Amino acid sequence: MLNWDEYDEPKIKQKPQQEVQQQVPETNNDEIQEQVLENYAPIEPGDRAKEAKEAIQDLDTKEGEEELEVLAGRVQVDDKAMINCRADLNQLVPFKYDWAWQKYLDGSANHWMPQEINMTTDIALWKSEDGLTKDERTIVMRNLGFFSTADSLVANNLVLAIYRLITNPECRQYILRQSFEEAIHTHAYQYCIESLGMDEGEIFNMYREIPSVAKKASWGLKYTKEISDPGFKTGTDETDKLLLKNLIAFYCVLEGIFFYCGFTQILSMGRRNKMTGTAEQFQYILRDESMHLNFGIDMINQIKIENPHLWDEQMRHEAAQMILEGTELEVQYAKDTMPRGILGMNANMMEEYLQFIANRRLVQIGLEEEFEGAANPFPWMSEIMDLRKEKNFFETRVIEYQTGGALSWD
Ligand SMILES: [Fe+2]
Ligand SMILES: [Fe+2]
Repeated sequence: MLNWDEYDEPKIKQKPQQEVQQQVPETNNDEIQEQVLENYAPIEPGDRAKEAKEAIQDLDTKEGEEELEVLAGRVQVDDKAMINCRADLNQLVPFKYDWAWQKYLDGSANHWMPQEINMTTDIALWKSEDGLTKDERTIVMRNLGFFSTADSLVANNLVLAIYRLITNPECRQYILRQSFEEAIHTHAYQYCIESLGMDEGEIFNMYREIPSVAKKASWGLKYTKEISDPGFKTGTDETDKLLLKNLIAFYCVLEGIFFYCGFTQILSMGRRNKMTGTAEQFQYILRDESMHLNFGIDMINQIKIENPHLWDEQMRHEAAQMILEGTELEVQYAKDTMPRGILGMNANMMEEYLQFIANRRLVQIGLEEEFEGAANPFPWMSEIMDLRKEKNFFETRVIEYQTGGALSWD
């Protein structure tokens, strides 16, 4: 974390406020502005300034105080809880869930953007007649097809389903960070698709049209649907379990299993010096994803600790079942994308890898391993997940990166 001694003066020279305002256009979208003016409709004259003053007087009353929940008193650490908490959610501190805050800091320290990665060799290779085999091209297209929508499924689940039901500000802070990272991932896939000049309609519709991709997407969507209705509330065993199942579906299965065949295939390509820009995008995404996964596992386990009655035999059985269903869907995806051996791997090796991953997911949430003796045929994947940003980032990035934004007053 930065301390005051390390604080750098902003490099962007600020101009006086008046000049700044003059440079800001009324709207940056002329078309919308034109429509607004066309539809301009005058309202009845009246003393609107007086009405506004009267309206905010209500904030001085008890009603206003209740709105701010100040009547409940200052938040104490013990008031906080993962779910069904009634303490004020607008106060980040006092901290209770330090692990969530630390992940927010770590995630922010890993910030990156897709345009920083040089795609020129990929473009040349993709456009050359004999640069890649047909099977290699299938792998690139299938994975961009799957991932370009999968990260939107994850982001939508975070924002529309999970966020409001997780009732402490530390976890919410990380969920907001994660949501932005998912937006960056979707941006990265789009950036690859656009750079390579692929048929966007074909790629973005794979999650509807290619069965092995569609099955994974619809498996996940079903869990979003269960709890994203605005009327859905936790607070009963049944609804609390639905939230827990959603977390297992998205963190353990979608991000924890469904991403692994594709990541391994693309990274294996990069290790063989093919599609190295795309592979580098995937490397940074994988590093983010392993943090998302760890955060999700911590959330699931913390909810279990605070609500042990939810983790009964039926729930444990269902959780294990979900992980096994996810593993089977990912094995089918591996077979579909690798009908033959390719890049030093084949569907059987991938199946063992996925069983190894599934065992880890089961153990991480306190369940027994399912696949006895499953080993990791791709130990290099673990090294990549721990990659530090500095390792090769600065050699390959192509644009000036301004952490303070891209403002220029000149
Ligand atoms: Fe993602
Ligand atoms: Fe993610």
